[in-house]
Amino acid sequence: MAAYDVVVIGTGPGGYVAAIRAAQLGLKTAVVEKWPTFGGTCLNIGCIPSKALLHASELYEEAGHGFADMGIGVDPKLDLAKMLAFKDEGVDGNVKGVEFLLKKNKIDTYRGVGAVAGPGKVKITPESGDAQEIDAKSIIIATGSDIVRLPGIEIDEKRVISSTGALTLSKVPKRLIVVGGGVIGLELGSVWRRLGSEVTVVEFLDRILPPEDGEISRQFERILKKQGMTFRTKTKVTSVDTSGKTLKVTLEPAEGGEAEVVDADVVLVAIGRRPYTEGLGLEAAGVEMDERGRIKTDDHFRTNIPGIYAIGDVITGPMLAHKAEDEGVAAAEIIAGQAGHVNYEAIPSVVYTYPEVASVGRTEEQLKADGVAYKVGKFPFTANGRAKVNRTTDGFVKILADKTTDRVLGVHMIGPDVGTMIAEVTLGMEFGAAAEDIARTCHAHPTLSEAVKEAALAVDGRAIHM
Ligand code: FAD
Ligand code: NAI
Repeated sequence: MAAYDVVVIGTGPGGYVAAIRAAQLGLKTAVVEKWPTFGGTCLNIGCIPSKALLHASELYEEAGHGFADMGIGVDPKLDLAKMLAFKDEGVDGNVKGVEFLLKKNKIDTYRGVGAVAGPGKVKITPESGDAQEIDAKSIIIATGSDIVRLPGIEIDEKRVISSTGALTLSKVPKRLIVVGGGVIGLELGSVWRRLGSEVTVVEFLDRILPPEDGEISRQFERILKKQGMTFRTKTKVTSVDTSGKTLKVTLEPAEGGEAEVVDADVVLVAIGRRPYTEGLGLEAAGVEMDERGRIKTDDHFRTNIPGIYAIGDVITGPMLAHKAEDEGVAAAEIIAGQAGHVNYEAIPSVVYTYPEVASVGRTEEQLKADGVAYKVGKFPFTANGRAKVNRTTDGFVKILADKTTDRVLGVHMIGPDVGTMIAEVTLGMEFGAAAEDIARTCHAHPTLSEAVKEAALAVDGRAIHM
């Protein structure tokens, strides 16, 4: 029987990164993957394909509307099949890249459903053929997450779709109803609106992107409305009648009240994701889960069963690829006897719409709830020279710093390219930066990131260009 120091179940960003780090540290490592390709949700049906469509659809919209203002005359025509092929090629390149990296690091790969078969044992059941068992001194579970479904509403991935179906629609729907004003709903809703759909987002709570800073989500909603999206907040979808050619979607006020029926061609259900632990044999192995079905771990990613670790979407924390990756690195280092660590105070999150939304650290609402005295520095892109000349002035940068120590506690931005700009403040927070440190750092001119420096100056009431 093959024997390993580490066997990782699942090859998403958590799993494949954990395996590479373990191999780098000299541990004999194998991965088990049930899908035909490596890379998990993120590379196959998540981050990568959605960003390919966001990129292509943004250029399509820009070519149709923004280019003329700059004196560039074009008349774009949509070839959806080709756009989807562009996305598929991008996915293919990325998943092959993971395969290459696993090989390069001499990691053994097993195809099939992996399960814990007892202490130090992993059973692999392939789609066809016999199951086999391998020995593992340490097992890392990195099985990720799956979509949350709405009771009574069946997802057929054609007319009633999840994010997976929204990446492959062969025709632009005339009317798209998105259930859930979270990250997936706004990113993929933006893609189809740019390609020509009338998009209505139905959100249960009173604002879109509920975990974001309130000021950000309110301004973001205004910007997306200007772009042509319709929002129905404090509303829920209770049923979708698929019997006719047109879908009949029943909406109700979130707190109850009179229902109304609206027509749609496609309904995208994007109300969150849940940890995926099916078929892993965790109950039999005695692995403890929490009340939301996540695998319980300590801050060293250890479950209650010695030798079994878990990382990524299947444990607590934000469901983000880079969070899963960092946990993968830390878990491998801990298994190798090193001091792996993840700083959950400095995990950035980005919504890749236009403009982008990016944040790190605590929101104003969280600071208030935590009773922390803070200062706010804000700077709008309307006052940034580069944004002005590019005519990309929607949005602002907001820095929250401790009132006494000036330490940066949270940064929230809407604007062009803020998904890249969030890295500088994340690095700052990792090093315990004060707003003053950012304010005194020279930023190149003319760049959008000068808005970060100005927001840091504004924390102390001394922004220059405002
Ligand atoms: P996953 O990537 O879900 O991988 C789990 C893997 O485990 C899968 O390959 C699965 O087949 C395998 N598996 C499951 N059970 C078994 C088993 N028993 N045996 C063998 N294999 C098994 N995050 C970002 O940070 N940025 C983004 O832009 C972003 N965009 C997204 C867009 C969409 C549409 C979606 C759905 C998600 C997006 N995410 C994004 C979230 C991101 O995809 C996840 O946070 C990330 O993939 C989690 O990584 P993971 O390794 O924990 O699990
Ligand atoms: P989400 O949690 O981001 O948003 C779901 C939204 O649906 C919430 O606003 C919630 O209030 C709402 N909702 C819940 N039940 C509802 C109901 N019955 N009716 C109407 N609204 C309802 O989840 P989403 O968008 O499905 O994404 C899942 C996860 O995937 C994200 O939380 C994120 O972690 C990850 N992701 C990350 C991306 C990124 O980093 N750019 C992109 C896409 C996904």
